[in-house]
Amino acid sequence: MSSRPAGNARTIVITGGNAGLGHGCATALVTSADGPWHVVVASRNAERTREAADKLAGAARAGHTVEAMPLDLASLASVRAFAAELADRVASGAIPPLQALVCNAGVQAGTRQTRTADGFESTFGVNHLGHFLLVNELLPVLRAPARVVVVASGVHDPAQKAGVPVPAWNAAPALARGELGPDAASDNAFVAGQRRYSTSKLANIYFTYALARRLPRGVTANAYDPGLVLGTGLQRSAPAPLRFAAKHVLPHARPLVRRFLTDKVYTAEESGAALAWLATAPELAGTTGGYFHQRQAIRSSDDSYDVARADQLWEDSLPLTAPPN
Ligand SMILES: NC(=O)c1ccc[n+]([C@@H]2O[C@H](COP(=O)([O-])OP(=O)(O)OC[C@H]3O[C@@H](n4cnc5c(N)ncnc54)[C@H](OP(=O)(O)O)[C@@H]3O)[C@@H](O)[C@H]2O)c1
Repeated sequence: MSSRPAGNARTIVITGGNAGLGHGCATALVTSADGPWHVVVASRNAERTREAADKLAGAARAGHTVEAMPLDLASLASVRAFAAELADRVASGAIPPLQALVCNAGVQAGTRQTRTADGFESTFGVNHLGHFLLVNELLPVLRAPARVVVVASGVHDPAQKAGVPVPAWNAAPALARGELGPDAASDNAFVAGQRRYSTSKLANIYFTYALARRLPRGVTANAYDPGLVLGTGLQRSAPAPLRFAAKHVLPHARPLVRRFLTDKVYTAEESGAALAWLATAPELAGTTGGYFHQRQAIRSSDDSYDVARADQLWEDSLPLTAPPN
């Protein structure tokens, strides 16, 4: 931990806070005049997470503090251990009350299907089920006024024409097995991987809306679309040419990206700052069940407002994430 949190500080957890958008969010928080915040950087690689936390602590304005806590969303046991440790630390007063949780970590599959420690298809397992369990485990610890922000993506919405295959929704147990809906029947391995990603991002929105309907007074939940964020690690499993373009070409060609791909294009710092705003801005204290692009409330896809589907996802996710007997 960087130093002792201030007496009036509040704790914010950022999953995937060591890199990309999550790191942009953490940077905006620790350099802000608001707070003070105790920022918990939670991601899977302990060493990388600690290095990122140390760097953030070095850049922090007086009052903010930072610590690294390992969390692997691809393991339900790890999620439970993380939540239990965090709850203990809050209860003992070692860290300030938990008032914000940013569900940011995410993976995008390449051509190879991978599984979490619990045997779930990884995109759905990490992006949805891991966060579903994390939020539910931490709900008793969140102290109102508090917020949950879930990072989704415009790719969940066919109307956005984001260039990624649109979701092929299926029941949660099927998605957990890696089975997309019938629209994906003729997908090759690459397209299926991309579609698993957009489908998991639709799950993020169903989850946020279902959560907002279940939260106690004073706790809010909103979903976030950061736009196309250049230069992050999200394409790490993509085929080599795409990976090369995402890492070395597109970040230096923003005007071309704007012209030929999308005008919703940002750096991790820009989108991270808007994410930090969503998690902390006083003017959003009563806003819940919304979907934001940057700092603007927008509509999500037509399908995403299907309450029955969202509730079914919630009900199906409970047994999938239940502790082993
Ligand atoms: N980049 C975009 O254009 C874009 C657009 C829309 C939405 N998003 C969303 O933004 C979020 C952040 O993505 P990004 O672009 O910043 O990608 P990124 O640079 O790859 O960051 C992803 C973060 O998630 C962490 N992570 C991955 N698997 C994890 C696991 N099993 N347990 C815990 N942490 C894990 C990573 O940790 P490691 O460093 O250990 O891998 C990393 O910190 C994702 O939810 C993504 O879907 C991104």
